[in-house]
Amino acid sequence: MLNWSIVKENFDKENFMLNETLFHLANGYLGVRDSFEEDFRGKLKTVRGIYINGFYETEDIQYGEKLYGYAEYSQSILNITDVQTILLNIDGEEFSILQGKIKKFKNELNLKEGYVKREILWKSNSGKELKIDIKRIVSFTREELFIIQYNITPLNFSGEIEITSLIDGNVSNITASDDPRIGTANAKHLDVVKCEVKENIGIIENKTKHSNMSVITSCIHEVNKKNQLNIEKEHDKINFKFSLEVKENEKVEFVKYSVFTDSLRYENNYTENLKILNEVIKNGKEFYIEAQKVYLNEFWKTSDIIIDGDEKLQEGLRYNLYQLLQSVGKDMYTNIAAKGISGEGYEGHYFWDTDIYILPFFMFTNSFLAKNLLMYRYNTLEKARNRAKMMGHKKGALYPWRTINGDECSAFFPAGTAQYHINTDIAYSFIQYYLITEDKEFMQNYGAEVLFETARVMFDIGHFNREGKFVINDVTGPDEYTCIVNNNYYTNIMAKYLFENTKLAWEILKENKEQFKKLKNKIEINEEEIKEFERAKENMYLPFDEKLHIHPQDDSFLNKKVWDFKNTPKENYPLLLHYHPLTLYRYQVCKQADTILAHFLREEETTLDIIKNDFEYYEKITTHDSSLSTCIFSIMASRLRLKEKAYDYFINNARLDLDDLHHNTKNGIHTAAMGGSWMGVVFGFVGMRIKNNNLHFNPLLPDNINKIKFKINFKHRELEIILNKEKLDIKLISGDKIDVYIDNNKTTIE
Ligand code: BGC
Repeated sequence: MLNWSIVKENFDKENFMLNETLFHLANGYLGVRDSFEEDFRGKLKTVRGIYINGFYETEDIQYGEKLYGYAEYSQSILNITDVQTILLNIDGEEFSILQGKIKKFKNELNLKEGYVKREILWKSNSGKELKIDIKRIVSFTREELFIIQYNITPLNFSGEIEITSLIDGNVSNITASDDPRIGTANAKHLDVVKCEVKENIGIIENKTKHSNMSVITSCIHEVNKKNQLNIEKEHDKINFKFSLEVKENEKVEFVKYSVFTDSLRYENNYTENLKILNEVIKNGKEFYIEAQKVYLNEFWKTSDIIIDGDEKLQEGLRYNLYQLLQSVGKDMYTNIAAKGISGEGYEGHYFWDTDIYILPFFMFTNSFLAKNLLMYRYNTLEKARNRAKMMGHKKGALYPWRTINGDECSAFFPAGTAQYHINTDIAYSFIQYYLITEDKEFMQNYGAEVLFETARVMFDIGHFNREGKFVINDVTGPDEYTCIVNNNYYTNIMAKYLFENTKLAWEILKENKEQFKKLKNKIEINEEEIKEFERAKENMYLPFDEKLHIHPQDDSFLNKKVWDFKNTPKENYPLLLHYHPLTLYRYQVCKQADTILAHFLREEETTLDIIKNDFEYYEKITTHDSSLSTCIFSIMASRLRLKEKAYDYFINNARLDLDDLHHNTKNGIHTAAMGGSWMGVVFGFVGMRIKNNNLHFNPLLPDNINKIKFKINFKHRELEIILNKEKLDIKLISGDKIDVYIDNNKTTIE
């Protein structure tokens, strides 16, 4: 099944953590790392983890010197009750892939059917041979459900086996390290407040110490053979021991169903949990296996990208799109964490990654999921208002740089809270959503409020200088190696776009008189304020250097010395792990696309010549230490007709996790880069943009690719887009005819 499966055929002890991430299963709610049923703790480097998106513990942040307005408390996604363990004992010998002889090993993540399957042919030290195949599903259609189907076939013996299945509430997170991208919190967060067995169902309740959240985990088993069950219960764990007689060549089917319900979504999570478990038992595993296929079939129908001629790319791209589906919170409480639900990197936090890098994919292919993501932002608007007040703004809202529950939890404000562009990024995604869906009601009910409130803060941090130009001082742009600067080009451009679109939102809002009145009263906004935004937009200061003919990243950028790249040893990258932030701030060195990203999002603000100059200038000083960088360089290389460069940057991005290019996939996937790979095809190679409310295309197919094919939704139409060596073909699948522009030529698609 080429390209629909990710397969590893050798067991790689050294990279076990990497594979735990790559083969993790998730559904937007629940995430399970592929830590295997044998318990390798103490034997291999492992992060044995199960997580719920948005389920976290808080802890006061301990500062040496705490100043006013610093984030008060941390939020960390939690490793919850472990149900992965299933141990197999054959007449006194323990099955483990770490001992005996492995005659065959295959691990497969199936992207079409949504499972992970491990097949092993194993010979024990005493010569007993077994075929073991284990299939795991984290259900997309019953999001609380995780199934392990553990099949055992004795190949050369009959005798007694014992299967021990464990539910273990004694869990912890990985401890602090010197890599800020992992976790900073303490390890043990959860108490076990309930541990019981009811009609062979094991139930454990974990409770946090501070955030007042709890999760119920329940487990039940099915065995297709007569067996004797012995249950051992301790205060925080339950062992289910099944003893059975097996016959040579007769398959034993052992199934473990686990259901997780948290107190965020379920008011009465104990009762709800058991209700769900009962329903699951009634339906049986096949029901969920089938439903998984149907669900994924629907997903791929609208979301697949076919790349003909480059299998590596195809594999990378499909893997990425699948992971985005696995990561996206499908209810209003959650968003997409920078690492999805695949590990503890970045503590399960949501960043601007969603709004700028991931939302385009969902907006063009699955507007329902996109809407949920936007609703998460809307639902946390009140917290953003409080944060704005705390930061000294009399009105408006300031969204947090990193968060789970909507409160800021970045403890390093220069590369955190100072990134005020988060406000413009969120507003940008609301505007894009409107342009793509024409959903006026959504703009009236939610978008307009977000736009006005975010614009207020952007207006408040700027002012009209002596020349009457609107300047924004002391902010950090996307590039985290250059902090707290005046007039970051990206921030100013995005603020300008936000100011401009408050007018659009105002006009749309006016069409609904009742809502117009309601919102005006609620946030006390009037036409005068919108006019002020307009004035700031008209007079926005955008740094430009006449000599170099480039846009400096900010006012001071070009006065800094260029980083000594020649004498920086390879092992010193990423620089953030080897140099004090102040050292980095003193040089022209960029962690990621900043001005180049501004050009991608707001190309109409400058000329193509200047974009080219900027590309050449910033390319030389960008380390791409952030995984959010190469996709943007790829898109802009396509725009500048730099075919090979576009492809090279793209392949680096599209297989970032599969090939572990940043050497940290073991801590979790990089969801922004994954969204970036969709953008690299659609906005890069196919050159799609929304300009003046219309779709424009400016394609450039890399030499190694024969054909690209995908679908998008735009303004109530479904379009299929096919780019091959000869031409770009656009087909209307549903909806009314529409005008599009291919290389600036108007074409009507009927
Ligand atoms: C990047 C940020 C990003 C964060 C989470 C950092 O390395 O610099 O832009 O939001 O990672 O992905």
